[in-house]
Amino acid sequence: MQKNDWKDRMNTLLKRRGWDIKDWHRATGLNQWQLENLMEMDLSEMDEGNLEGIYEQAKEAKLDKSLLRFDAPVMIAVWAHKGGMGKSTVVTNLSYELAKKGYNVLAVDTDSQSDMSSVLYPDYIGEPDVSFYNAFLGQEDFKEEGYIMHTEYSGIDVVAGSAECEALEGALCMMTDKIRDKMWKKCLRSVREENYYDFIIIDMDKTAGVMNKTILAEADYVLAPIESSIFGVKSVPPTIAQIDEVAETNPKLKLLGVLFNKVDLRKKASMADNMGLVEQIAPQCIFKTFIKNDANVDNSQKEHMPIGYYNSRSPASKQMTEFAEEAVERIRKDQNRKGE
Ligand SMILES: Nc1ncnc2c1ncn2[C@@H]1O[C@H](COP(=O)(O)OP(=O)(O)OP(=O)(O)O)[C@@H](O)[C@H]1O
Ligand SMILES: [Mg+2]
Repeated sequence: MQKNDWKDRMNTLLKRRGWDIKDWHRATGLNQWQLENLMEMDLSEMDEGNLEGIYEQAKEAKLDKSLLRFDAPVMIAVWAHKGGMGKSTVVTNLSYELAKKGYNVLAVDTDSQSDMSSVLYPDYIGEPDVSFYNAFLGQEDFKEEGYIMHTEYSGIDVVAGSAECEALEGALCMMTDKIRDKMWKKCLRSVREENYYDFIIIDMDKTAGVMNKTILAEADYVLAPIESSIFGVKSVPPTIAQIDEVAETNPKLKLLGVLFNKVDLRKKASMADNMGLVEQIAPQCIFKTFIKNDANVDNSQKEHMPIGYYNSRSPASKQMTEFAEEAVERIRKDQNRKGE
């Protein structure tokens, strides 16, 4: 008898708690897609014990009310006008940390090196036809046309990169801004309408070409990881210039912040100098949290894992957790300001 009325009892429980399915997912950590399927599918083949376990878990679970809800996914473009400073590392690990908190994240890999895909979705290599390249050039809806891959980490899905992404710049440079923007909007249409993802986090290459400008034309924030070096500092003005240029047509775009990455604590004086220089260029933009140079980062990537999954006690993992909190807090403040 239990199985027959399980959906009714579940719906009553959700109603009593004032939860929708997103709240249920956030409170229990169970995958939101799976919960949605469960409420729609025929349960006759399901194990009764499992169903009861899910019900009991929802009864006991507590919802973290501080988690943010948005009207549409917040798009964070991780970009800096210099290579090798940690963009892919930040996309991978920020996605993981946000998903761990209970957010649904879509990580999109627009880079031909596909470094983020290789960590969060190592199987991407066997599916070269479902990469960002094909979606973008084919003007195909990520969701409707099957470009979204579920990873083994609950709450993180990926649109994978591929070597062909290198060719996008050449293919796009003959088109107008308007056409490129239309193509990008088409890829995003369903994920925006459906509003399942809380965050769309984009890995990009270092260039300031038309492909990256197109990405920024739809983004809310740019997050710029830099190394503590003079070359790292030098990348900040062109990053800001690019944001200012795109903001003329996408006024919501702004710099979320500059994250110091690969920090060598033996070089505190030079770190203070570099921070001072960035502060002059972009006041109040440096995140308080920085990420240490930690061999666990490289090792986790070799094992195709986010650092927090590979070694949650490593310094870089703890700092990534703190950084994700700080980033969310900045977004909260910014969204509150907008709502006032
Ligand atoms: N905090 C860190 N500690 C140690 N190594 C790090 C750290 N962050 C990144 N790395 C290493 O630095 C290298 C460059 O990082 P990553 O690939 O994330 O940079 P990127 O900006 O995406 O580079 P590209 O411009 O080539 O796409 C990688 O080998 C990565 O393992
Ligand atoms: Mg990269």
